[in-house]
Formats: sequence, C-alpha cells, structure tokens
Amino acid sequence: MSASTQLNPDPLAKLEPRTEPSAPRVFIKTYGCQMNERDSEAVAAQLQEKGYEIASSDRDADIILLNTCSVRDAAEQKAIGKMQNLIAQTRRERPNAVLGFMGCMAQSRGKDLIDQLPDLDLVVGTQKFHRVGDHLDQLLKSENRQPICDTEAEVGSESTIREHLFTGKSAAKAVTAFVSIMQGCNQYCSFCIVPYTRGKERSRPIEEIVDEVRGLVDQGVREVTLLGQIVTSYGKREIGSKNGLSAFTQLIEATHEVEGLERIRFTSPHPKGYQDDLIEAYGRLPKLCESAHLPLQSGSNSMLKKMKRGYTRERFLEIIHKLRQVRPDMGMTTDIIVGFPGETEEEFQETIDLCRKVEFDNAYVFKYSPRKGTPASEMPDPLPQELIEERHAILLNEINQIAKRKYEQFVGREVEVLVEGPSRRNPNRMMGRTRCHKIVVFEANERFRGQLMKMKIESAGAFTLYGNPAILNLD
Ligand code: 5AD
Repeated sequence: MSASTQLNPDPLAKLEPRTEPSAPRVFIKTYGCQMNERDSEAVAAQLQEKGYEIASSDRDADIILLNTCSVRDAAEQKAIGKMQNLIAQTRRERPNAVLGFMGCMAQSRGKDLIDQLPDLDLVVGTQKFHRVGDHLDQLLKSENRQPICDTEAEVGSESTIREHLFTGKSAAKAVTAFVSIMQGCNQYCSFCIVPYTRGKERSRPIEEIVDEVRGLVDQGVREVTLLGQIVTSYGKREIGSKNGLSAFTQLIEATHEVEGLERIRFTSPHPKGYQDDLIEAYGRLPKLCESAHLPLQSGSNSMLKKMKRGYTRERFLEIIHKLRQVRPDMGMTTDIIVGFPGETEEEFQETIDLCRKVEFDNAYVFKYSPRKGTPASEMPDPLPQELIEERHAILLNEINQIAKRKYEQFVGREVEVLVEGPSRRNPNRMMGRTRCHKIVVFEANERFRGQLMKMKIESAGAFTLYGNPAILNLD
C-alpha cells in the first residue's frame, strides 16, 4: 500500500517506500578552466529545471558526466582514466547508469571516444551543452540504448550558457558569479588547441549579458566575473568600437550601471587587447576591481614570436606600467608555459627576469604539452621531459618567493573584503577577497555574507591573508 493513500490510518504506512519514481540524479565532474566550471553549472541548472536532481558524488548518481579539458594531455588522460574506472565500477553496480563526456575533449575526439570506450552513452561538444537534457531524456527512456555523439557547430550557442544554480545549499546565498560573455577564440597561438575545440569567437549582445547580471544581483550576487577565452576580443565583429571605446569596455560600462552590483572582474584578457581605453576604465569605473590575470606565456621575444602571441616583452612591461600608473595596487597574475619547443636556457632566463620585474602576485606555470593539430606540435627541437620538469620547478620556486614577499607587504594594511562564505579550512571563520583578488580569512559569521567589510591584515600565509575586522568595525 502506498504511503500517499490518504485512507490508510496506519502510522507505519509513512515508512513504506514511495511509489512515484524519483528524479534521475546527475553528477557532473569538471576538468580545466573557469569556463568549463561555468558550462557545467549552466548544464546542471538546465537539468534541474527539467526535473533532474543534482548529486554531490558519482557514487549515488544515475547519470555521470565528465566535462573535459583538452589544453594539456594530462587533463585528457585524467578524464579518460576516470571514465574507465567509472565504466568498470558503475556498470557492475548500476548497469543502467548513463555515462558521458562533454566539453573540449568530447569536441576534439568525438566519435573516437565511443570507439575507444564502447560502454559510453553520450558525447556532447562545446556548442551543444544546452542539448544535454534532451539527450539524457532520450537515453533514459530508450529500451535499446545507442550511444549519442553530438558535436556539430551551432549558430547562437554562445547565448545558451545563461542559467545559474540558485537552489541547493550553496546557492541562494551566492555572493559571486561567473557570466559567460562569449565563446570561441580566433587567436591561434601556436601551442593552443582551444580555437579547434571552441570554434570561432561569438559574442552575446550587451543587453543580454547585463540582463543576466541584473538577475544575479536580484538573487544576492555582489560581484560578477565576465568570462571568455579572450574577453578583450569581446564583440569585435558584432558590436565594434564606439567613441574610442572597444566593445569590451562598452560592456564593462553597461555592467557598471547595474544597481546593487559592487564589483566587476573579468578573465582572461589577451595582452594585445589591453588598449588605453581599457586601462583608463580602471581609473574611472569604481566597481572595476584592480586585479588582472594577464597571460604572459614567455618573457622571451623569440619565444613569443614562435608562440604567435602578438606582443613583445617590452610591450607587456609597458601595459603593466600603465596599469600601475592608474591603479598602483593592481593585483597581477599570469599564465606561463615552460619548455616550448626550442626554448634555450637564455630564453628561459628571460622569462624569470620578466617575472622578477613585474612581480606577479601568483602565476600558473604549465609544462608545455604538444597538442595534435597545433603548429607547435610540429616544431623542431622538442625539449626533453626532464628539462621541462626542471624549469617548471625553478620557475615555480621563483614565483612562490615573489608571491611571499608581495603577500607580506599587506600585513598592517587596511583592505576592503567582500565576504563570500565560510573558510574552507576552518568553517568557523569566514573568507572573502580583497579588490586585488587576495583571499582573506577572518573571524566573522554568516551574518556578514555578501557585505563589504574593512579590515586590517594581521598576517600572511601561502596565498592567504589573515584579517582582523574587529579593529575597524567596532560600531
Ligand atoms: N601546453 C601547456 N600549456 C598550455 N596552455 C595552453 N596550451 C598549452 C599547451 N599546449 C596554457 C596557457 C594558457 C593556459 C590556459 O593553459 O598558459 O594561458
């Protein structure tokens, strides 16, 4: 007898299992960049709207999707290894579970993945995230399941990454959010696979993005990060410059108008796109936070040329100089690749030298990984792996030393922190970020979530500052 039968007076009936089918539970694991995180969030939100439930682990999920990254071979191997384990385990315990890949590796390898892993049910490319729900519906109801591979290009797909997860435990109270403003990349840096996996640049209209930001602010969001492969190329084709302002600067201005929004960030720009209108925007738009993630890749002009980056070390230093003239306490982070084909000791030393000159607050240091189909993968003089490892360790050590000094300079200073939520390490404390993007941990409670708090920095740890709000917030 069903628990929902109203006529049954037996109180134990409550304990009987429910008879209506429960919603399918989906777990999405993400590899790679913030864009991938954002794509996964949008897919999860779309599935939730369709009635699916979001699972927090693959162990109790009916559907497991891996959102993949192709930027380095290690990321691809990780996802393939994980899928092999899932197939071995999940197929034994839950033979009907749906297993799928989506994102960049799904795009670049497509049907080959199904040939390699015949137990796979779904492969969805980077322009088809919004179709995941329909494919899952079809797979779940099919008696004779056939794998689906959907990796075509789709006009307008840049506007399909718009839903946010605003239910569940973390949401509703989200203070910061990522907003995807464009898809694709036209740069064709010689080492990079992204133009081949993400397609040509396509930008969303300004009004559509601003509407999304407004909706987020209505839900309590105080800070947005505008996201794209190369945000400084935003709207070049679709919108163009107006009154000396690039489309991207126009977008920042329009976002700045949103009432209730406190902070604006973006990632990633291309140094080539850091023109004066954008640099000046930091000076006149108070919500635009003084932090920049400016991918350098190499400090050597000959390497930059081979990488097809379109700037020199001198131009890079000039941009940094100009930014610091407008905002002296600008936070600066970067991406660097070590071991690009033919990189000599002198060229590597030029990268170290440039890092010392700029004094980055942090850097992601990557070991060069040849990607099939990219020009660099066919260049002569590949470096031995041991040398790449050695340079990676040397540069990382250098970056850590610079960062330590930079973080220590904050001790004793007063900063403004946007309170994001409990600290991950110690949930009794709260964490937030300074305008220049440093993580700060401090004594406070949930009541302060979403507030801008002034505090004094008392000590500095590894990439974390410790603040004391009591000194400045005694009212
Ligand atoms: N090998 C190593 N690192 C790479 N990146 C992109 N392509 C490669 C590659 N083939 C790094 C760049 C980029 C970051 C997202 O990944 O530094 O900025």
